[in-house]
Amino acid sequence: MSCLHYCDATLYIENVNLMQVAQQFGTPSYVYSRAMLEKNWKAFDQAFQFIPHCICYAVKANSNIAILHLLAQLQSGFDIVSLGELERVIAAGGDPQKTVFSGVGKREDEIEEAIKKNIYCFNIESTSELERLAKIAHRLNKKVKVMLRINPNVNPQTHSHISTGLKENKFGIHVSEIVSLSRQLVSHTSLQFIGIGCHIGSQITTLAPFLEAIDCLLDIYQQLQRSGITLQYINIGGGLGITYHQERPPEIIEYAQTLQQKLSSYPVKLILEPGRAIIGNAGVLLTRVEYLKSTPHKQFAIVDAGMNDFLRPSLYDAWQAILPVTVRQEAKKIYDIVGPVCESADFLGKDRELAIQEGDLLAVDSAGAYGFSMSSNYNSRGRPAEILIDGDQIRLIRRRETIQETFALENIIKG
Ligand code: LLP
Repeated sequence: MSCLHYCDATLYIENVNLMQVAQQFGTPSYVYSRAMLEKNWKAFDQAFQFIPHCICYAVKANSNIAILHLLAQLQSGFDIVSLGELERVIAAGGDPQKTVFSGVGKREDEIEEAIKKNIYCFNIESTSELERLAKIAHRLNKKVKVMLRINPNVNPQTHSHISTGLKENKFGIHVSEIVSLSRQLVSHTSLQFIGIGCHIGSQITTLAPFLEAIDCLLDIYQQLQRSGITLQYINIGGGLGITYHQERPPEIIEYAQTLQQKLSSYPVKLILEPGRAIIGNAGVLLTRVEYLKSTPHKQFAIVDAGMNDFLRPSLYDAWQAILPVTVRQEAKKIYDIVGPVCESADFLGKDRELAIQEGDLLAVDSAGAYGFSMSSNYNSRGRPAEILIDGDQIRLIRRRETIQETFALENIIKG
């Protein structure tokens, strides 16, 4: 489901006409719906109400502090992968005690700061990382909670760039190493072994891979229990897909019921790390058509948002709906919707049937997740503004970056 709807042939988010947003704040801009964001988070929380759980929103999906603040107000936890993300959570009023730290490459200073800031636990992905954590915790005289991230060798049947639970991926610890690593873990007095988890990939549209993954985790849970280690947490990660085109991902409730059945006889708390399923369909990218260009082969709509603003189509060949903000009663033509960046990979959509004119506004649907958070300054373009719609209110939650800001950190070496 999208947060967009038409009223009198004009596109709206909640009670706000997107033309008005463009007039007030310009384009390209990301525009989010508060109601949709909150609805998605609550749907997760409700669906899992029958098992002890904690929803740790994956900050990387969209890390704007206004978005994080709304989630913190709902009592959400957070899944972070850098010190930067932790600082954002704290700035947004999020609770470090509900924050889990994932990722394969945590630096020493990041681990130290995260311990000092009292995060809930570390998701550990290798022997070396475990040893580094133990050493730092010991030096700081702290007892630190640890979960081990397993690589269950499951195919999530998604794009290869966002598959993370296959044995050839850099993520997680191989199943055969878990028992010995667990012994190593419990021998460290500075560490407390509380759980195991996995994150097998993103934009997963069937339940089967999740089932395979949870079976693997429960198998390890039992194995560890037999060797005298009882864990309190199972972390299934994120990954639940959304509908961009014709995908039919499982409903949140279906996903929850399936996991609940699997976990019913285990006295554990479930940690979830959804990102896309919370913010994906709660945001759009608003862009303006600069030029219509026809060649003997193709027609292009050149818009003011490029791959630096929105990378998903270029990086994953992702298909996302592109809708006209104002519907024209004219004949449609087939366009490639492309940006101004000097790369042929710079496109938002190909072969789209639209009735548009130069100056028209378009909305790229379901761009709330991995949209702004993956944007860059490539081609020295300032990053877009971000706007939150709340009923009939329009709030600027990040102003457009100025050109001066894109090179403000650079120095000319004189002489
Ligand atoms: N937990 C961990 C450890 C992760 O690495 C991720 C995402 C998540 C949770 C959240 O996954 P989600 O529920 O959002 O699928 N840029 C890509 C997606 C990369 C996902 C990376 N990890 C895209 O635009 O499709």
